[in-house]
Amino acid sequence: MTETKQQESPKTHRAVRWHPPSYDVRVEDVPFPKVEHPDDAIVKIALAGLCGSDLHIYRGHDVITKVHTSGHEFVGEVVALGSNFLAVGGEQAASNGRPVLYSTLKVGDRVVSPFTVSCGECRPCRQGFSSRCARSLLFGSPALEGGQAQYVRVPYAGGTLFRLDDIKPDLATESRLTTLADSSLLLLADILPTGYFAALQLLQHPKLLPLLGGNPYPHTTLALSNPVGEAATSKDLLSIALIGLGPVGICAVVSLLDLLWKNGISYYRIIAIDPHEQRRNLIKAIYNKILDANPTLNQKSTFEAVDIETAKQRGFSADNAGFDGVIEAVGNTSAISLAFDLVRPFGVITSVGVHQDQPLPMPGRALYGKNVSLDFGRCPVRSVFPLVLDLLVRRQDVFGEVGTETSLVDRIVGFDEAKVYYDLFDKGKCGKVLFDPWK
Ligand SMILES: NC(=O)c1ccc[n+]([C@@H]2O[C@H](COP(=O)([O-])OP(=O)(O)OC[C@H]3O[C@@H](n4cnc5c(N)ncnc54)[C@H](O)[C@@H]3O)[C@@H](O)[C@H]2O)c1
Ligand SMILES: [Zn+2]
Ligand SMILES: [Zn+2]
Repeated sequence: MTETKQQESPKTHRAVRWHPPSYDVRVEDVPFPKVEHPDDAIVKIALAGLCGSDLHIYRGHDVITKVHTSGHEFVGEVVALGSNFLAVGGEQAASNGRPVLYSTLKVGDRVVSPFTVSCGECRPCRQGFSSRCARSLLFGSPALEGGQAQYVRVPYAGGTLFRLDDIKPDLATESRLTTLADSSLLLLADILPTGYFAALQLLQHPKLLPLLGGNPYPHTTLALSNPVGEAATSKDLLSIALIGLGPVGICAVVSLLDLLWKNGISYYRIIAIDPHEQRRNLIKAIYNKILDANPTLNQKSTFEAVDIETAKQRGFSADNAGFDGVIEAVGNTSAISLAFDLVRPFGVITSVGVHQDQPLPMPGRALYGKNVSLDFGRCPVRSVFPLVLDLLVRRQDVFGEVGTETSLVDRIVGFDEAKVYYDLFDKGKCGKVLFDPWK
């Protein structure tokens, strides 16, 4: 369990700490993290993200009483490894089928981490459900110190981390990847995979297949035959509502459009909903920019960014009284109620918002009455990573810049401004903010 090959180990480092009960973050000096288990890595953080999920804790929704370091999105460099890594003498790594990073990760490697720890070895991890790893821990929670710091300890690091050097050749994007900035790579830690996950879950749902494939329900992946052989074609417009245009919602819109276009689907109607005009304007600017570069994409489709009242009118004026699919990227009762109001009978709601303890506002009878499918939960970042990296590389016009009219990342600030930017982000007055812990 010895800590070896450590490049640096000051006694303390700076971190953004959350203090209960709410709205209180402080930048403090805290003890330098140590390797506590042979599978651990210590990462020196280059950039850390501020996320809507930090806001649930910030606002006191989570009823947490322990002071802890905030943040769960980070990119950085390995500065220390536990003794199970081959690079520091671990013998079991290479031979016993453990995740490959136990054999290859070295001090000095650049890495990005999913926002939760995933071992890569348990049953959920093996099936691709890495966000529900049996050993899962959330960075920036009472159980694990967060990434809004100069250094962080990563448990089960061989299963959890991505080594940025490793992912180039697999995707044949070597030349372009070397130009990706840390501010872009950081989006892989959470919000881009989560937006992609929301879009993928929705579009792959069997209830949407009549619109995507042209044949009516039922569709099945099981080996069944249809003795009657009826097959009508459906060319109805695919209608989708997306609720919440924070950074996650924006990633969901871009992912959704990418999946539709890649699959040749141009007969859609999308509305994106947020009460904040600034956030609606950003998604409009992003949509227009993407279309300007690809004018043929928009032939039979419509895209609107609207407030909540307008969304309700649009939903109920549709001929089938609602949207085929609704993505909810907010995480409060009013947003999930709106999703239920907007979805059509036999429709699908995909929720990636982090909901709190309140019961869902839809009674069982109402759910029955709409034949609705509800899909919730945490993104398995580790599992969707390759698909998302490919999108990140192709959409550098949105995900590669900082502080432009169409960039997802609004600004990069030092920890001295953490308090101010928590407040501004909480009020929806700025977009995605990254912290440079060394600024
Ligand atoms: N499932 C996952 O794995 C996962 C990962 C990351 C984030 N999240 C969650 O996703 C959600 C969004 O994250 P974010 O970083 O974009 O947060 P954010 O707080 O920046 O964005 C939320 C947006 O929703 C809008 N909003 C609030 N109430 C609304 C309503 N009733 N109707 C429409 N819009 C409404 C707000 O104006 C805001 O723009 C959060 O709940 C976050 O915790 C989930
Ligand atoms: Zn996040
Ligand atoms: Zn696991």
